[in-house]
Amino acid sequence: PTIYVITPTYARTVQKAELTRLSYTFLHVPKLHWILVEDSPTKTALVSQFLSRCGLTYTHLNVATPPVFKTKSADPHWLKPRGVLQRNLGLEWLREHLHADTANGVVYFADDDNTYDIQLFEEMRYTKRVSVWPVGLSGYLRYESPVVTNGHVTSWFTYFRPDRAFATDMAGFSINVRLLLDRPEAVFKNTVRRGHLETNLLSAITTMGELEPKAHNCTKVLVWHTRTEKADLRNEDKFKKRGFPGSNPDIEV
Ligand code: UGA
Ligand code: MN
Repeated sequence: PTIYVITPTYARTVQKAELTRLSYTFLHVPKLHWILVEDSPTKTALVSQFLSRCGLTYTHLNVATPPVFKTKSADPHWLKPRGVLQRNLGLEWLREHLHADTANGVVYFADDDNTYDIQLFEEMRYTKRVSVWPVGLSGYLRYESPVVTNGHVTSWFTYFRPDRAFATDMAGFSINVRLLLDRPEAVFKNTVRRGHLETNLLSAITTMGELEPKAHNCTKVLVWHTRTEKADLRNEDKFKKRGFPGSNPDIEV
């Protein structure tokens, strides 16, 4: 089975570094198709050129998040869901280009700032319906995880709202692509209560009893919800204030 990885991404100073790191992980994974979706009204030159050189099988898409749904710099990072329209566009592409009778693969939503152990991809590859596993450094805990009893998921180890039907981070599950082709109504929604993006989607396609626990019955952490520090470029301005030209804008970072 092919692993279709859907990644929303947006322009910021660390973007190329993030995408480089991510692509080097994916290059270790056989049969991976990367669907990279820019949060942008156009496909940027930086991402287009990056992809053409990255050595992966990929599809490059773009859709801009409307300003009302965008996180402002003064907002706390959890206020509005991120990457919603981008993941939905990735799903739309799969629904247009694959056919339910021949499709053989798994969909994973991989944010561009997380850290992935390549073993995770072999865990998810044989997902029949929906697989789940722990996510390290998530939810202000060492990890968040499905709770497994006798081989079945029975509840969730999270601090935030463990009563959610599927209290998992985006990085903690994969879906058999046929399930998504069979359920065209299953999409992410910008209007859900905060922290309910994942549980809202999964509720449309599965039940807790059907979940397939991976990573040694959810005892191994194979993905980390790392968050990259914003680049601090204060000395660029200081250079200009002192009458120096600052860095060369023709050098891509
Ligand atoms: C957490 C979850 O891990 C995300 O999967 C979830 O989308 C997010 O919360 C949420 O609440 O919506 P977090 O680290 O807070 O993640 O979010 P980011 O990593 O900042 O963003 C998630 C993805 O969306 C990233 O791939 C990022 O590049 C992309 N993004 C972010 C955009 O496409 N546009 C934006 O304006 C911001
Ligand atoms: Mn993140």
